[in-house]
Amino acid sequence: MSKFSFLLPGIIFLAFGAAQAQSPTYKMGRAPTAAELRAWDNVVGSDGKELPNGSGTAVEGAKIYAAKCAVCHGANGESPSPNPRLVGGVGTLSSGNPTRSSGSIVPFATTIWDFTNRAMPVGAAGTLTPNEVYAVTAFILFKNGIIKETEVLDKKSLVEVQMPNRNGFYPDPPQTTPDKIRSWLPYWNQAKPAAKPAAK
Ligand code: HEC
Repeated sequence: MSKFSFLLPGIIFLAFGAAQAQSPTYKMGRAPTAAELRAWDNVVGSDGKELPNGSGTAVEGAKIYAAKCAVCHGANGESPSPNPRLVGGVGTLSSGNPTRSSGSIVPFATTIWDFTNRAMPVGAAGTLTPNEVYAVTAFILFKNGIIKETEVLDKKSLVEVQMPNRNGFYPDPPQTTPDKIRSWLPYWNQAKPAAKPAAK
């Protein structure tokens, strides 16, 4: 045996690694089917163009909400902690006692639809039909005083809903001088609240 034979395992290992690096397949899993990709590709943005057909009202949503949501979010969306509040606090965000809820903070109604569609109810996410999601979204908006109880939500009217906090967000502009109070932020992002954009 040569005195370098102890290197052999390492050489084999390196050669194997190089062969693997050249090959893009890992002999694991499989390519997703078109139907699977469609099922995962279901995020709805603020312009709502991904919204499916279907519709619902708060009247219909009340029954679904009572059966599938109230246990965690409270009968009226007031959410006993730790689950997030869905209802209340509209108009309080800039007061000394702000109440954060889906109704008071979320700038687009499509976000409530999308979150409910993909993540709710916890433990059975993805089981609601589009009609049910429109209906419970309508119920949450109605309880927040944003729409009427009989208003029909569908892919057109949902996008038209004006959330009370639509213009409450403002971009974080770069700061040119360091800010002691916000020193935990990267220097270039230590923005102080700039002037709020004028409400439309
Ligand atoms: C088992 C408890 C549970 C049930 C049942 C449930 N939720 Fe939730 N919900 C949660 C929790 C926990 C969160 C926070 C999840 C997170 O932030 O990741 C949440 C978050 C939400 C949010 C986002 C709130 C926000 O603004 O941050 C909405 C909207 C919502 N739920 C609606 C519903 C609706 C509608 C139903 C019934 C179809 C439902 N939930 C059923 C526990 C539940």
